[in-house]
Amino acid sequence: MDTKLFFGDAAAFETPMLAIFAVDLEEDKKADPRPALLTKASAFADAAESVLSSGEFKAALGEVALLNAPAGLKSGRLLLVGLGKAKDLSLDRIRKGAGTAVRAAKPRSVREMAIAFPEASDIANTSSFSAILTARSIVEGAEVGEVDWDTYRSDRKDQSVHSLTLIASAPASAEVQRGFEEGLIVASAQNFARSLVNEPGNVLTPTVLGARAKAMCDEAGLKCEVFSSDKIQELKMEAFWAVAKGSAEPPALIVMTYEPKTAPAAGTPVMGLVGKGITFDTGGISIKPADGMEKMKYDMAGAAAMIGAMQAIARLKPAVKVIGVVCSAENMPDGKAFKPGDIVTAMSGTTVEIVNTDAEGRLVLADGLHYAKTLGCTHLINAATLTGACVIALGALNFGVFSNNEAAWEKFMTGLKTSGEKGWRLPCTDDYRDHIKSEIADIMNTGKNRYGGAISAAMFLKEFAGDTPWVHLDIAGCAWNEDKKPWHAYGPSGIAVRSIIEWVRSYSA
Ligand code: BES
Ligand code: MN
Ligand code: ZN
Repeated sequence: MDTKLFFGDAAAFETPMLAIFAVDLEEDKKADPRPALLTKASAFADAAESVLSSGEFKAALGEVALLNAPAGLKSGRLLLVGLGKAKDLSLDRIRKGAGTAVRAAKPRSVREMAIAFPEASDIANTSSFSAILTARSIVEGAEVGEVDWDTYRSDRKDQSVHSLTLIASAPASAEVQRGFEEGLIVASAQNFARSLVNEPGNVLTPTVLGARAKAMCDEAGLKCEVFSSDKIQELKMEAFWAVAKGSAEPPALIVMTYEPKTAPAAGTPVMGLVGKGITFDTGGISIKPADGMEKMKYDMAGAAAMIGAMQAIARLKPAVKVIGVVCSAENMPDGKAFKPGDIVTAMSGTTVEIVNTDAEGRLVLADGLHYAKTLGCTHLINAATLTGACVIALGALNFGVFSNNEAAWEKFMTGLKTSGEKGWRLPCTDDYRDHIKSEIADIMNTGKNRYGGAISAAMFLKEFAGDTPWVHLDIAGCAWNEDKKPWHAYGPSGIAVRSIIEWVRSYSA
């Protein structure tokens, strides 16, 4: 989508379809809704008068009403987009509203459209959101909402919106401009991550994931190295190799490096972004049941999030060094596969008793986290579709957040407010260490029992983060949108990309 920013009068803007936002002023649940527009020009109120007073449009979140040939406006159609109750208005709702607007255009074969920047007014607290973040949210919502994951359907209809203009009232504001530009960068990173997650396991092997990461890095100006079996064994990454060796597809160890223009002073942070890149997880010898196994193609969503985040970092240019490490493999049962009962020595020297080959994510991440430290990372974040237990605990709306460091957690939590993503902290305090104690090795790769399974996995990773400030995101429940919404399609969500970017930026000198 060609997305532009225009400063001027939305009522006088010529476009096939102009979207404006509306909220419901009524606070009493039993009373009829009182929809009101987030525009100041009276031309809009006049054009929408009859539909607003008819009661058919309630301005609920995700609701739209379309007016053809609206009188007094230059646009061919006026789309009213509901954002819900005025008192609940948030950046997240504005983001969803922008997605809803674009997705409403698609089935109507509208190829060109515009969205009017919501105007501060006494009816809704739009002025309490910064112009930067408002512009960013609109662009992110629109760009993410535009994409449908139907490339493999021969019956697909081209419903793409080619051009979108965000219209902000003059005078030109540097803040709106900046938010607009950041939004484009962040949304493109999120959509790139989604495009990787969308690919099936037979297309996106570890080798192909490495090639796609490399191509992105070449374009974005990042250094990128992609290693395979030899290097993994040479580095003594026995935990990673244990998972990888049962597949005919070679693994990939992807290392992406961003260096800020002016070399940061000694002692400044080096951020390590570590991703779980299991391109298909059969469970290995501890094989998964057939039901739902096809979903395990998205077991590389953590890796995709890191690769996407690196793209945005290359473009946003924070003043902090960032190293992305992706451990990619296919988890397969085979004559050469690792087995329950095997004991492997991770790169860190920690011995691990394999109890279940389906707990493979923590094994590849163990070596990824340790390796990132050897590369000089002083702060670590990892993302992984790690446990079904986290899905049971938090459902699909919040990913699990774990951390061994209060300052790192606080920075992450603050970033969630900007990114609009939802993460919920779960504990990984040392009293849970018993979960992963093994009788015959240093630790084992599952918990003693199923209780607190997401925590057992986090405790395992924490062992390898050691004293380095570390944040772990268990995104198993959020990486794939099972439900279609007015603002997004079925399929890969690109979750965590935006929050990882914010976390990294919060360390920028
Ligand atoms: N990739 C799965 C976790 C997962 C489950 C992701 C559901 C997305 C949706 C992971 O590798 C796994 O299999 N975890 C096991 C761990 C267990 C064997 C200790 C699980 O959660 O069942
Ligand atoms: Mn598994
Ligand atoms: Zn897995």
